[in-house]
Amino acid sequence: MRSTSVISSLALFSAAATAANVVEISLNRLRTEHPGFYPGKLRSRATTDTYVEQLVNNVTGGGYYATVQVGTPGQTQVLVIDTGSSDVWVVASDANLCTSKFLQSQYGDTCSDTYNANKSSTYELVDSDGFDITYLDGTGSSGDYFSDNFEIAGATIKSLQMGLATETVRGTGVMGISYSSSVSTTETYPNLIDQFQKQGLISTKAYSLYLNDYHSQTGSILFGGVDTEKFIGNLSVMPILPTTRGGTNSYTVLAVALNSMVADPGSGGDSSNVAFPSSQAMPAILDSGTTLSYLPTSIASSLFEAVNAYTDDEVTGYTFIDCESPSDLSVTFSLGNGAKIVVPAAQIVIDAFAGYQSLIPSNVPFKNACLFGFQDLSSASSSSSSKLSIISAATSSSYVLLGDTFLRSAYAVYDLTNNEIALAQSNLNTTTSNVVELQASDSGIPTLTGVKSQQTTAASSSGSSTTGGGNGGTTTGSGGSDGTVTVTASPTKNAAGLSAFSGPSFGILASAGAAFFFSILGGVLVLA
Ligand SMILES: *[C@@H]1O[C@H](CO)[C@@H](O)[C@H](O)[C@H]1NC(C)=O
Ligand SMILES: *[C@@H]1O[C@H](CO)[C@@H](O)[C@H](O)[C@H]1NC(C)=O
Ligand SMILES: *[C@@H]1O[C@H](CO)[C@@H](O)[C@H](O)[C@H]1NC(C)=O
Ligand SMILES: *[C@@H]1O[C@H](CO)[C@@H](O)[C@H](O)[C@H]1NC(C)=O
Repeated sequence: MRSTSVISSLALFSAAATAANVVEISLNRLRTEHPGFYPGKLRSRATTDTYVEQLVNNVTGGGYYATVQVGTPGQTQVLVIDTGSSDVWVVASDANLCTSKFLQSQYGDTCSDTYNANKSSTYELVDSDGFDITYLDGTGSSGDYFSDNFEIAGATIKSLQMGLATETVRGTGVMGISYSSSVSTTETYPNLIDQFQKQGLISTKAYSLYLNDYHSQTGSILFGGVDTEKFIGNLSVMPILPTTRGGTNSYTVLAVALNSMVADPGSGGDSSNVAFPSSQAMPAILDSGTTLSYLPTSIASSLFEAVNAYTDDEVTGYTFIDCESPSDLSVTFSLGNGAKIVVPAAQIVIDAFAGYQSLIPSNVPFKNACLFGFQDLSSASSSSSSKLSIISAATSSSYVLLGDTFLRSAYAVYDLTNNEIALAQSNLNTTTSNVVELQASDSGIPTLTGVKSQQTTAASSSGSSTTGGGNGGTTTGSGGSDGTVTVTASPTKNAAGLSAFSGPSFGILASAGAAFFFSILGGVLVLA
């Protein structure tokens, strides 16, 4: 994203400190008002595919962010919530990207909220030059590991180890909340989710992710609890797939078994099973840090055919779908022990190019072309943009990367203590809340029951609704019954100068091994 870009999100920040050990954080979606660049590539703006790329970035860019404070006194940082990686890292105020106009134009990003170690009395150096992270899309950051206080939604974690990016192609830091076994150093350390539990802020290492409707500005993440108003029917609990390397099992990625997918083209057309290679279950990574979702080629082709999506292999590498696709088009995912998540057209037929249809390559056969929420991993990597350079090295692996375009339809509970994930259909746009705290004594995620059906859109907001535009101050409200307090704040100051990491992004770590596992064998991911 260019420095001239303006952020249009509400940039709301709300925290609910309930009676006991749960911490709820409202996630903000940042959208650029101007097309952004994809970081990591120097491009000319002259070609059509560049424009398409920018427009893709424009709409899928943003991701989900949380506003946190690092240091003493607190320095505001806005971080991408990433279930695909494990380190928290912030951008150093003297990072190369922040101080070089050349790098800013090369990577198409600028720095916004940065961290200055000299201005924090609680800063401590942990490992000089020890931090080095590379994401699956080839972007990366490196610098020191340090520790400092980390405040999120009113909860303070003392001396959290974090990366301090002094060399970075992203101007926005990341809040990785996957297993600490996947931190990007050989010496593992207690990461954010570990410390959350260790320091007694929550009872067990678990959180619930509610990204909410594509058209909604905010979602939320609830540490230590489950909100039964935010999903429909029963939670379906399934094991996280352990990874095995050299005969040793460990938990490194938040992946579950994807058993099948059914594509319904809508308008009374016939549903069909999406063909899986050798009819086996596929490992699926549930990754909030990845904006689109990606499928191995054979699965992708079968799905694209079933819903009449078209891949432009010639220019952009993206898969498009007719904006006039039936609104009852959907893709249904069966995961784990019987969870069914329906992803409807509204979440995956993405109107990225309104007003810019003339820029769509002429081989794309739709009068109004929309971006499809599911893309082919390998065609993306072999496209002229070749931005997914690292992925191309990994295309022989067969796994499914379920990013935000899938996760918006699901309520996802991640339990890193018991190595389970629970999924249910999301109850979109709800403003009501009923938080059940997860206990250390739980032997797994309880099979809680949510609401009966999707609430009607016009649901009246409860006391805890988040309101206010970009200029709001701080609103404090108390909603909910059991002593729940919801604090809503609109940190305009930060939002104004904020640079979102724009573009389809990958939160998944290239180095975590995720790119290289091949199949599920007896419920275990086998690494090459
Ligand atoms: C995308 O960019 C165009 C051109 O700047 C703008 O008109 C449009 O509103 C943007 N769309 C979104 C969703 O940000
Ligand atoms: C912090 O202080 C040291 C020593 O004075 C200085 O070399 C460094 O540039 C400062 N860093 C920042 C980010 O201001
Ligand atoms: C949800 O679980 C309850 C209790 O286990 C069960 O009685 C009910 O039939 C389940 N509902 C659905 C829709 O599966
Ligand atoms: C949720 O709200 C948005 C507007 O914010 C609306 O566009 C969308 O259709 C709603 N979704 C559902 C399922 O009601």
